[in-house]
Amino acid sequence: MRAIVYTRYGEPDVLQLKDVDKPTPGDDELLIKVHAAEATKADCEMRSFKFAVKWFWLPLRIAVGLTRPKNPVLGGYFSGEIESVGKAVSKFKPGQQVFGCARLRMGAYGEYICLPDSYTIVPKPRNLTFAESAAVPLGGLNALHFMRRANIQNGEKVLVNGAGGSIGTFGVQIAKAMGAEVTAVDSPIKEQMLRRIGADHFLDYTREDFTRSGKTFDVIFDMVARSSYSGCIRSLNPGGRYLKGNPRLSDMLRSVLTTRFTSKTAVFAFAGEKEEELLELSEMIESGAIKPVVDRIYPMEQAPEAHRRVETEQRSGIVVISITNHDGDLMPAEKME
Ligand SMILES: NC(=O)c1ccc[n+]([C@@H]2O[C@H](COP(=O)([O-])OP(=O)(O)OC[C@H]3O[C@@H](n4cnc5c(N)ncnc54)[C@H](OP(=O)(O)O)[C@@H]3O)[C@@H](O)[C@H]2O)c1
Repeated sequence: MRAIVYTRYGEPDVLQLKDVDKPTPGDDELLIKVHAAEATKADCEMRSFKFAVKWFWLPLRIAVGLTRPKNPVLGGYFSGEIESVGKAVSKFKPGQQVFGCARLRMGAYGEYICLPDSYTIVPKPRNLTFAESAAVPLGGLNALHFMRRANIQNGEKVLVNGAGGSIGTFGVQIAKAMGAEVTAVDSPIKEQMLRRIGADHFLDYTREDFTRSGKTFDVIFDMVARSSYSGCIRSLNPGGRYLKGNPRLSDMLRSVLTTRFTSKTAVFAFAGEKEEELLELSEMIESGAIKPVVDRIYPMEQAPEAHRRVETEQRSGIVVISITNHDGDLMPAEKME
């Protein structure tokens, strides 16, 4: 089978299309024919081994390969079709169209992937293509997890910082679906798209620091590693909640004091990426409440370009790699210009 492989850490050109062995499912595993995979910021960070937050560099490097990657196929989020199942699997049948998460096993940049049936994998939304479905699990699961933790009440003011990325685009839509008045913060090329998906207000972070604007919010959902902790806490109304997925160590320590000694709450967490959450997202998508924003779809041969587009942030939404051009909707990027 074909797979996008990297055998050393480095620039996007370390990604190469190669023939590799097709995996064989164990008794409790599914063999999935992958149709599309999201090219995520995390994939780019694993490839280059450069992270905005540094504290987990050493433990992660030991886990994924000290001198070179132990697992040469990236891709944590995908859509595809069940090809076969192990003999202990009763939950899935060959031919089912699914989407989900490969966790740290990765491997969705290959034509086939084997995953345990206990992983977060569910039927793909009926009204989405495979490419659109692959764009859902990372952003949707993370945004849903944090937005639920925020306990948003109808009419509350929610600010999403880094709103134009994979997680932020879902954060904006889920907050809107929960009845919030949403302010999206990102670079100006993303304004039009963010307003289209429901943002009531837009702030261009290259011109204005929202933490110094005097405006305050009930919830701040922050995707930007280097943002100011004290600035964000100051920008919360009494009883406000600050949620962040990529905290610095100092932020985590300060959050204990904020939550204990003020009316405000700071939540730093890793999203569990649970099956019931992916099913809920699927329902929200099928009811039309939310939808993924796909920026471009690249064929496997152009994986380095896909990574460059994610890293240089010229994108407006989510970048997808077409693994098997199954449903004709996986149009190469150059045809989308
Ligand atoms: N806790 C968890 O479970 C978890 C899980 C997954 C990911 N994460 C982390 O969450 C973060 C966001 O992930 P993602 O996949 O959504 O990233 P992403 O797609 O790269 O989105 C980040 C967005 O923030 C914008 N941005 C950059 N600097 C900004 C600033 N100073 N102010 C406002 N916006 C800014 C970027 O646009 P421009 O660069 O064009 O400005 C981009 O649109 C990553 O750091 C990731 O590692 C956490």
